[in-house]
Amino acid sequence: MSIKKIIDIIYKETGIDVHSMGELAFSNAANNCMQELSISSLTDYIILLENSWDAREKLIEEIIIPETWFFRDLSAFDELARFTLNTMKPDQPVRILSLPSSTGEEAYSAAITLHEKGLSPDSFLIDAFDISQKNIEHANNGLYRGNSFRKETPDLYITRYFKLYGDQYSIDDKLKSNINFSRLNIFNPQVLAIPDYYDVIFCRNLLIYFNSERKNIAIGKIHRALKNNGLLLIGHSEASIVPADKYTPCNTVRSFGFIKTRNKKPGNYQVKGNPRPFTFKRTLPASPAVKTRVINKRSEIRASPKKKQPDTTNNMEEARNLANIGHYAEALAICSKIDSMSPSAECYTLMGIIHGADNSLEEGEKCLRKALFLEPKNHEALAHLSLLLNQKGDKDNADLLMKRAEKYQARN
Ligand SMILES: C[S@@+](CC[C@H](N)C(=O)[O-])C[C@H]1O[C@@H](n2cnc3c(N)ncnc32)[C@H](O)[C@@H]1O
Repeated sequence: MSIKKIIDIIYKETGIDVHSMGELAFSNAANNCMQELSISSLTDYIILLENSWDAREKLIEEIIIPETWFFRDLSAFDELARFTLNTMKPDQPVRILSLPSSTGEEAYSAAITLHEKGLSPDSFLIDAFDISQKNIEHANNGLYRGNSFRKETPDLYITRYFKLYGDQYSIDDKLKSNINFSRLNIFNPQVLAIPDYYDVIFCRNLLIYFNSERKNIAIGKIHRALKNNGLLLIGHSEASIVPADKYTPCNTVRSFGFIKTRNKKPGNYQVKGNPRPFTFKRTLPASPAVKTRVINKRSEIRASPKKKQPDTTNNMEEARNLANIGHYAEALAICSKIDSMSPSAECYTLMGIIHGADNSLEEGEKCLRKALFLEPKNHEALAHLSLLLNQKGDKDNADLLMKRAEKYQARN
Protein backbone atom coordinates (compact mmCIF):
# COMPACT_ATOMS: atom_id res chain seq x y z
CA MET A 1 0.00 0.00 0.00
CA SER A 2 1.22 3.46 -0.70
CA ILE A 3 0.96 7.03 0.56
CA LYS A 4 -1.86 7.43 -1.99
CA LYS A 5 -4.23 5.76 0.45
CA ILE A 6 -3.26 8.29 3.16
CA ILE A 7 -3.88 11.13 0.70
CA ASP A 8 -7.32 9.66 -0.09
CA ILE A 9 -8.27 9.30 3.58
CA ILE A 10 -7.26 12.88 4.42
CA TYR A 11 -9.12 14.20 1.39
CA LYS A 12 -12.24 12.23 2.25
CA GLU A 13 -12.24 13.36 5.89
CA THR A 14 -11.28 17.02 5.47
CA GLY A 15 -11.40 18.01 1.81
CA ILE A 16 -7.70 18.98 2.02
CA ASP A 17 -6.11 18.39 -1.36
CA VAL A 18 -2.59 17.01 -1.55
CA HIS A 19 -1.57 19.68 -4.08
CA SER A 20 -2.22 22.46 -1.58
CA MET A 21 0.59 21.29 0.69
CA GLY A 22 2.57 18.72 -1.24
CA GLU A 23 2.90 14.97 -0.76
CA LEU A 24 5.75 15.36 1.72
CA ALA A 25 3.49 17.11 4.23
CA PHE A 26 1.06 14.18 3.99
CA SER A 27 3.74 11.52 4.44
CA ASN A 28 5.32 13.45 7.33
CA ALA A 29 1.93 13.59 9.05
CA ALA A 30 1.47 9.84 8.60
CA ASN A 31 5.02 9.11 9.81
CA ASN A 32 4.54 11.21 12.94
CA CYS A 33 1.33 9.37 13.77
CA MET A 34 2.91 5.98 13.09
CA GLN A 35 5.81 6.82 15.40
CA GLU A 36 3.45 7.89 18.14
CA LEU A 37 1.50 4.67 17.79
CA SER A 38 4.70 2.58 17.46
CA ILE A 39 3.53 1.19 14.11
CA SER A 40 6.27 0.53 11.58
CA SER A 41 4.26 -0.85 8.65
CA LEU A 42 2.31 1.54 6.45
CA THR A 43 -0.07 -1.29 5.56
CA ASP A 44 -0.89 -1.88 9.24
CA TYR A 45 -1.38 1.84 9.75
CA ILE A 46 -3.79 2.13 6.84
CA ILE A 47 -5.81 -0.80 8.14
CA LEU A 48 -5.99 0.98 11.51
CA LEU A 49 -7.07 4.22 9.83
CA GLU A 50 -9.84 2.41 7.99
CA ASN A 51 -11.20 1.00 11.22
CA SER A 52 -10.62 3.66 13.84
CA TRP A 53 -12.04 7.17 14.01
CA ASP A 54 -9.51 8.00 16.75
CA ALA A 55 -6.62 7.16 14.43
CA ARG A 56 -8.12 9.24 11.63
CA GLU A 57 -8.68 12.11 14.03
CA LYS A 58 -5.00 12.06 15.08
CA LEU A 59 -3.99 12.16 11.43
CA ILE A 60 -6.31 15.14 10.79
CA GLU A 61 -4.79 16.99 13.75
CA GLU A 62 -1.37 16.31 12.31
CA ILE A 63 -2.15 17.61 8.79
CA ILE A 64 -4.17 20.76 9.49
CA ILE A 65 -2.45 24.14 9.60
CA PRO A 66 -3.90 26.10 12.53
CA GLU A 67 -1.88 29.26 11.74
CA THR A 68 -3.87 32.32 12.83
CA TRP A 69 -3.49 35.42 14.99
CA PHE A 70 -5.50 38.24 16.52
CA PHE A 71 -6.68 40.80 13.98
CA ARG A 72 -5.18 38.94 11.05
CA ASP A 73 -5.71 41.38 8.20
CA LEU A 74 -6.98 44.26 10.29
CA SER A 75 -9.03 45.72 7.45
CA ALA A 76 -11.45 42.77 7.61
CA PHE A 77 -12.36 43.86 11.14
CA ASP A 78 -12.80 47.47 10.00
CA GLU A 79 -15.22 46.10 7.43
CA LEU A 80 -17.05 44.07 10.07
CA ALA A 81 -17.47 47.17 12.26
CA ARG A 82 -18.63 49.35 9.38
CA PHE A 83 -21.07 46.74 8.10
CA THR A 84 -22.49 45.96 11.54
CA LEU A 85 -23.03 49.59 12.51
CA ASN A 86 -24.71 50.30 9.17
CA THR A 87 -27.01 47.30 9.09
CA MET A 88 -27.86 46.25 12.63
CA LYS A 89 -31.48 46.42 13.68
CA PRO A 90 -32.86 46.92 17.19
CA ASP A 91 -33.76 43.68 19.01
CA GLN A 92 -32.10 41.54 16.38
CA PRO A 93 -28.64 40.23 17.17
CA VAL A 94 -26.09 40.31 14.38
CA ARG A 95 -25.17 36.71 13.58
CA ILE A 96 -21.54 36.12 12.73
CA LEU A 97 -19.78 32.94 11.67
CA SER A 98 -16.05 32.29 11.87
CA LEU A 99 -15.32 29.13 9.88
CA PRO A 100 -12.63 27.93 10.20
CA SER A 101 -12.03 29.48 13.59
CA SER A 102 -8.83 27.55 14.28
CA THR A 103 -7.79 28.41 17.87
CA GLY A 104 -10.29 31.26 18.20
CA GLU A 105 -8.28 34.40 17.51
CA GLU A 106 -10.54 35.45 14.59
CA ALA A 107 -13.78 35.08 16.59
CA TYR A 108 -12.36 36.90 19.62
CA SER A 109 -11.04 39.67 17.35
CA ALA A 110 -14.56 40.09 15.96
CA ALA A 111 -15.97 40.26 19.50
CA ILE A 112 -13.34 42.83 20.57
CA THR A 113 -14.07 44.92 17.47
CA LEU A 114 -17.77 45.08 18.26
CA HIS A 115 -17.21 45.72 21.99
CA GLU A 116 -14.95 48.58 21.02
CA LYS A 117 -17.76 50.04 18.92
CA GLY A 118 -19.99 50.01 21.98
CA LEU A 119 -22.19 47.07 21.02
CA SER A 120 -23.63 45.26 24.01
CA PRO A 121 -22.88 41.53 24.31
CA ASP A 122 -26.47 40.57 23.51
CA SER A 123 -26.48 42.50 20.24
CA PHE A 124 -24.32 39.95 18.44
CA LEU A 125 -23.74 36.20 18.43
CA ILE A 126 -20.71 34.45 17.04
CA ASP A 127 -20.53 30.82 15.91
CA ALA A 128 -16.97 29.62 15.51
CA PHE A 129 -16.39 26.22 13.92
CA ASP A 130 -13.30 24.21 13.15
CA ILE A 131 -12.65 20.58 12.28
CA SER A 132 -9.97 20.23 14.96
CA GLN A 133 -10.96 19.26 18.50
CA LYS A 134 -7.61 20.56 19.79
CA ASN A 135 -8.23 23.96 18.23
CA ILE A 136 -11.71 24.19 19.69
CA GLU A 137 -10.45 23.27 23.18
CA HIS A 138 -7.74 25.89 22.84
CA ALA A 139 -10.31 28.49 21.77
CA ASN A 140 -12.59 27.68 24.69
CA ASN A 141 -9.69 27.95 27.15
CA GLY A 142 -8.81 31.34 25.72
CA LEU A 143 -5.12 31.16 26.66
CA TYR A 144 -2.65 32.51 24.11
CA ARG A 145 1.09 32.90 23.71
CA GLY A 146 2.99 35.72 22.05
CA ASN A 147 2.72 34.11 18.62
CA SER A 148 -1.01 34.89 18.52
CA PHE A 149 -0.20 38.59 18.59
CA ARG A 150 1.49 40.01 15.52
CA LYS A 151 2.11 43.54 14.37
CA GLU A 152 -1.53 43.92 13.28
CA THR A 153 -2.82 43.37 16.83
CA PRO A 154 -3.41 46.79 18.42
CA ASP A 155 -1.45 47.00 21.72
CA LEU A 156 -4.35 48.79 23.34
CA TYR A 157 -6.58 45.75 22.90
CA ILE A 158 -3.99 43.47 24.50
CA THR A 159 -4.02 45.64 27.60
CA ARG A 160 -7.81 45.93 27.61
CA TYR A 161 -8.88 42.39 26.91
CA PHE A 162 -6.12 40.11 28.21
CA LYS A 163 -4.47 39.28 31.53
CA LEU A 164 -0.95 37.94 31.56
CA TYR A 165 -0.45 34.71 33.53
CA GLY A 166 3.16 33.59 33.34
CA ASP A 167 3.92 33.48 29.64
CA GLN A 168 0.27 33.22 28.55
CA TYR A 169 -2.40 35.78 27.91
CA SER A 170 -5.88 34.94 29.14
CA ILE A 171 -8.81 36.45 27.26
CA ASP A 172 -11.40 38.41 29.20
CA ASP A 173 -14.31 36.13 30.15
CA LYS A 174 -16.88 38.69 29.04
CA LEU A 175 -15.85 38.03 25.43
CA LYS A 176 -16.57 34.33 25.77
CA SER A 177 -20.24 34.62 26.68
CA ASN A 178 -21.60 35.13 23.17
CA ILE A 179 -19.22 32.95 21.20
CA ASN A 180 -20.15 29.35 20.52
CA PHE A 181 -17.04 27.33 19.64
CA SER A 182 -17.88 23.94 18.13
CA ARG A 183 -15.96 21.26 16.46
CA LEU A 184 -17.52 20.90 13.00
CA ASN A 185 -16.46 19.93 9.53
CA ILE A 186 -17.71 22.27 6.81
CA PHE A 187 -18.56 19.23 4.66
CA ASN A 188 -20.83 17.74 7.29
CA PRO A 189 -24.34 17.96 5.70
CA GLN A 190 -25.79 19.38 8.92
CA VAL A 191 -23.35 22.27 8.97
CA LEU A 192 -24.65 25.53 7.46
CA ALA A 193 -27.91 23.81 6.61
CA ILE A 194 -30.12 26.77 7.59
CA PRO A 195 -30.44 29.20 4.69
CA ASP A 196 -30.14 32.98 5.16
CA TYR A 197 -28.93 32.65 8.74
CA TYR A 198 -25.75 34.69 9.13
CA ASP A 199 -25.26 38.42 8.62
CA VAL A 200 -21.49 38.09 8.41
CA ILE A 201 -19.32 35.10 7.49
CA PHE A 202 -15.57 34.97 7.93
CA CYS A 203 -14.27 32.13 5.79
CA ARG A 204 -10.60 32.90 5.53
CA ASN A 205 -7.71 30.67 4.67
CA LEU A 206 -9.66 27.46 4.28
CA LEU A 207 -10.62 27.32 0.61
CA ILE A 208 -6.93 27.46 -0.41
CA TYR A 209 -6.58 23.89 0.82
CA PHE A 210 -9.37 22.50 -1.35
CA ASN A 211 -9.53 21.42 -4.99
CA SER A 212 -12.08 23.07 -7.25
CA GLU A 213 -14.79 20.48 -6.54
CA ARG A 214 -14.56 20.99 -2.77
CA LYS A 215 -14.17 24.76 -3.16
CA ASN A 216 -17.48 24.82 -5.02
CA ILE A 217 -19.23 22.73 -2.39
CA ALA A 218 -17.87 24.92 0.43
CA ILE A 219 -18.68 28.23 -1.25
CA GLY A 220 -22.17 26.89 -2.11
CA LYS A 221 -22.84 26.15 1.57
CA ILE A 222 -21.51 29.51 2.69
CA HIS A 223 -23.60 31.27 0.06
CA ARG A 224 -26.75 29.54 1.25
CA ALA A 225 -26.09 30.30 4.92
CA LEU A 226 -25.36 34.00 4.32
CA LYS A 227 -28.31 36.40 4.30
CA ASN A 228 -28.96 38.45 1.22
CA ASN A 229 -26.95 41.69 1.57
CA GLY A 230 -24.79 39.88 4.14
CA LEU A 231 -21.02 40.34 4.33
CA LEU A 232 -18.56 37.63 3.31
CA LEU A 233 -14.95 38.07 4.40
CA ILE A 234 -12.53 35.88 2.56
CA GLY A 235 -8.75 35.27 2.62
CA HIS A 236 -6.35 37.20 0.39
CA SER A 237 -5.87 34.43 -2.14
CA GLU A 238 -9.44 33.31 -2.15
CA ALA A 239 -11.25 36.26 -3.70
CA SER A 240 -11.38 34.74 -7.18
CA ILE A 241 -13.46 31.86 -5.84
CA VAL A 242 -16.29 34.20 -4.91
CA PRO A 243 -18.90 34.11 -7.72
CA ALA A 244 -18.83 37.49 -9.46
CA ASP A 245 -22.50 37.26 -10.40
CA LYS A 246 -23.64 36.86 -6.79
CA TYR A 247 -21.34 39.15 -4.83
CA THR A 248 -20.23 42.76 -5.00
CA PRO A 249 -16.85 43.62 -3.54
CA CYS A 250 -16.92 46.22 -0.80
CA ASN A 251 -15.14 49.41 -1.73
CA THR A 252 -12.21 48.31 0.35
CA VAL A 253 -9.96 46.54 -2.10
CA ARG A 254 -7.79 45.35 0.74
CA SER A 255 -10.22 43.67 3.04
CA PHE A 256 -11.55 41.08 0.61
CA GLY A 257 -15.05 41.74 1.78
CA PHE A 258 -18.01 40.94 -0.47
CA ILE A 259 -21.70 41.68 -0.18
CA LYS A 260 -24.12 38.97 -1.24
CA THR A 261 -26.21 40.64 -3.87
CA ARG A 262 -29.41 39.30 -5.36
CA ASN A 263 -29.88 39.73 -9.14
CA LYS A 264 -26.42 41.08 -9.68
CA LYS A 265 -25.43 41.57 -13.30
CA PRO A 266 -22.77 38.93 -14.14
CA GLY A 267 -19.24 40.30 -14.29
CA ASN A 268 -20.18 43.62 -12.74
CA TYR A 269 -17.50 43.88 -10.08
CA GLN A 270 -17.41 47.63 -9.79
CA VAL A 271 -19.01 49.35 -6.84
CA LYS A 272 -20.18 52.82 -7.70
CA GLY A 273 -19.89 55.84 -5.47
CA ASN A 274 -17.15 57.46 -3.45
CA PRO A 275 -14.54 55.10 -2.13
CA ARG A 276 -14.65 54.91 1.64
CA PRO A 277 -11.48 55.04 3.71
CA PHE A 278 -9.95 51.67 4.34
CA THR A 279 -7.02 50.12 6.11
CA PHE A 280 -3.74 49.43 4.40
CA LYS A 281 -2.09 46.74 6.42
CA ARG A 282 1.63 47.04 6.90
CA THR A 283 3.12 44.32 4.72
CA LEU A 284 6.21 42.42 5.68
CA PRO A 285 9.06 44.02 3.78
CA ALA A 286 11.24 41.52 1.94
CA SER A 287 14.49 40.89 3.78
CA PRO A 288 17.24 43.26 2.60
CA ALA A 289 19.15 40.27 1.21
CA VAL A 290 16.23 39.21 -0.96
CA LYS A 291 15.55 42.75 -2.09
CA THR A 292 19.16 43.34 -3.13
CA ARG A 293 19.30 40.07 -5.02
CA VAL A 294 16.16 40.82 -7.01
CA ILE A 295 17.15 44.39 -7.63
CA ASN A 296 20.60 43.43 -8.88
CA LYS A 297 18.97 41.37 -11.57
CA ARG A 298 16.63 44.17 -12.50
CA SER A 299 19.07 46.99 -12.73
CA GLU A 300 17.10 48.86 -15.37
CA ILE A 301 14.58 49.85 -12.71
CA ARG A 302 17.02 50.28 -9.89
CA ALA A 303 19.88 52.68 -9.28
CA SER A 304 23.28 51.20 -8.41
CA PRO A 305 22.70 48.39 -5.91
CA LYS A 306 26.04 49.13 -4.23
CA LYS A 307 24.78 52.52 -3.05
CA LYS A 308 23.47 52.46 0.50
CA GLN A 309 19.68 52.70 0.21
CA PRO A 310 17.84 55.23 2.39
CA ASP A 311 15.60 53.82 5.08
CA THR A 312 12.07 54.52 3.84
CA THR A 313 10.21 52.48 6.46
CA ASN A 314 8.66 55.45 8.28
CA ASN A 315 7.59 57.09 5.04
CA MET A 316 5.91 53.89 3.91
CA GLU A 317 4.06 53.84 7.20
CA GLU A 318 2.98 57.44 6.66
CA ALA A 319 1.78 56.64 3.14
CA ARG A 320 -0.23 53.73 4.46
CA ASN A 321 -1.78 55.84 7.20
CA LEU A 322 -2.79 58.52 4.71
CA ALA A 323 -4.28 55.91 2.42
CA ASN A 324 -6.20 54.55 5.40
CA ILE A 325 -8.03 57.80 5.87
CA GLY A 326 -8.73 58.20 2.17
CA HIS A 327 -5.99 60.77 1.39
CA TYR A 328 -4.93 58.93 -1.72
CA ALA A 329 -3.19 61.83 -3.50
CA GLU A 330 -0.95 62.56 -0.51
CA ALA A 331 -0.24 58.87 0.00
CA LEU A 332 0.71 58.51 -3.66
CA ALA A 333 2.95 61.59 -3.49
CA ILE A 334 4.93 59.99 -0.66
CA CYS A 335 5.10 56.70 -2.56
CA SER A 336 6.48 58.52 -5.64
CA LYS A 337 9.19 60.10 -3.50
CA ILE A 338 10.10 56.73 -2.00
CA ASP A 339 10.08 55.25 -5.48
CA SER A 340 12.54 57.83 -6.79
CA MET A 341 14.96 57.05 -3.94
CA SER A 342 14.51 53.32 -3.57
CA PRO A 343 12.02 51.44 -5.76
CA SER A 344 10.58 48.36 -4.11
CA ALA A 345 7.84 45.82 -4.64
CA GLU A 346 6.27 46.92 -1.36
CA CYS A 347 5.95 50.51 -2.53
CA TYR A 348 4.64 49.57 -6.00
CA THR A 349 2.13 47.23 -4.40
CA LEU A 350 0.81 49.96 -2.15
CA MET A 351 0.58 52.35 -5.12
CA GLY A 352 -1.27 49.71 -7.10
CA ILE A 353 -3.74 49.14 -4.27
CA ILE A 354 -4.36 52.87 -3.86
CA HIS A 355 -4.98 53.33 -7.60
CA GLY A 356 -7.27 50.31 -7.57
CA ALA A 357 -9.22 51.71 -4.61
CA ASP A 358 -9.50 54.99 -6.44
CA ASN A 359 -10.82 53.21 -9.55
CA SER A 360 -7.71 54.09 -11.61
CA LEU A 361 -7.47 50.54 -12.81
CA GLU A 362 -4.90 51.10 -15.61
CA GLU A 363 -2.50 52.93 -13.28
CA GLY A 364 -3.08 50.32 -10.58
CA GLU A 365 -2.30 47.52 -12.99
CA LYS A 366 0.94 49.20 -14.09
CA CYS A 367 2.15 49.56 -10.50
CA LEU A 368 1.26 46.00 -9.53
CA ARG A 369 3.05 44.69 -12.62
CA LYS A 370 6.15 46.66 -11.61
CA ALA A 371 5.93 45.11 -8.13
CA LEU A 372 5.81 41.67 -9.73
CA PHE A 373 8.70 42.53 -11.99
CA LEU A 374 10.79 43.12 -8.88
CA GLU A 375 9.32 40.25 -6.89
CA PRO A 376 7.54 37.76 -9.16
CA LYS A 377 6.33 35.73 -6.17
CA ASN A 378 4.96 38.66 -4.18
CA HIS A 379 1.74 37.14 -2.96
CA GLU A 380 0.06 40.44 -2.14
CA ALA A 381 0.79 41.97 -5.54
CA LEU A 382 -0.43 38.81 -7.29
CA ALA A 383 -3.67 38.77 -5.31
CA HIS A 384 -4.36 42.46 -5.92
CA LEU A 385 -3.54 42.31 -9.59
CA SER A 386 -5.93 39.38 -9.86
CA LEU A 387 -8.69 41.38 -8.19
CA LEU A 388 -8.01 44.32 -10.42
CA LEU A 389 -8.14 42.22 -13.60
CA ASN A 390 -11.37 40.75 -12.33
CA GLN A 391 -12.73 44.27 -12.00
CA LYS A 392 -11.67 44.90 -15.59
CA GLY A 393 -13.53 41.77 -16.69
CA ASP A 394 -10.37 39.79 -17.57
CA LYS A 395 -11.48 36.74 -15.62
CA ASP A 396 -9.09 34.22 -17.24
CA ASN A 397 -5.92 36.12 -16.39
CA ALA A 398 -7.34 37.01 -12.98
CA ASP A 399 -7.83 33.31 -12.26
CA LEU A 400 -4.31 32.47 -13.42
CA LEU A 401 -2.81 35.11 -11.15
CA MET A 402 -4.93 34.03 -8.20
CA LYS A 403 -3.74 30.45 -8.69
CA ARG A 404 -0.15 31.72 -8.55
CA ALA A 405 -0.98 33.73 -5.44
CA GLU A 406 -2.52 30.64 -3.84
CA LYS A 407 0.52 28.59 -4.72
CA TYR A 408 2.92 31.00 -3.10
CA GLN A 409 0.76 31.56 -0.06
CA ALA A 410 0.40 27.82 0.52
CA ARG A 411 4.21 27.53 0.37
CA ASN A 412 4.86 30.34 2.84
C1 LIG B 1 -5.06 28.52 8.51
S1 LIG B 1 -6.38 28.20 9.61
C2 LIG B 1 -7.39 29.62 9.29
C3 LIG B 1 -7.88 30.26 10.56
C4 LIG B 1 -8.51 31.65 10.41
N1 LIG B 1 -9.72 31.60 9.64
C5 LIG B 1 -7.55 32.64 9.81
O1 LIG B 1 -7.68 33.01 8.64
O2 LIG B 1 -6.64 33.06 10.51
C6 LIG B 1 -7.15 26.84 8.76
C7 LIG B 1 -8.08 26.03 9.66
O3 LIG B 1 -8.96 25.26 8.82
C8 LIG B 1 -9.40 24.15 9.58
N2 LIG B 1 -10.02 23.18 8.66
C9 LIG B 1 -9.42 22.43 7.69
N3 LIG B 1 -10.33 21.67 7.06
C10 LIG B 1 -11.53 21.95 7.61
C11 LIG B 1 -12.85 21.50 7.37
N4 LIG B 1 -13.11 20.57 6.42
N5 LIG B 1 -13.86 22.01 8.12
C12 LIG B 1 -13.61 22.93 9.08
N6 LIG B 1 -12.37 23.39 9.37
C13 LIG B 1 -11.34 22.92 8.64
C14 LIG B 1 -8.11 23.69 10.23
O4 LIG B 1 -8.36 22.90 11.37
C15 LIG B 1 -7.41 25.01 10.56
O5 LIG B 1 -7.62 25.35 11.90
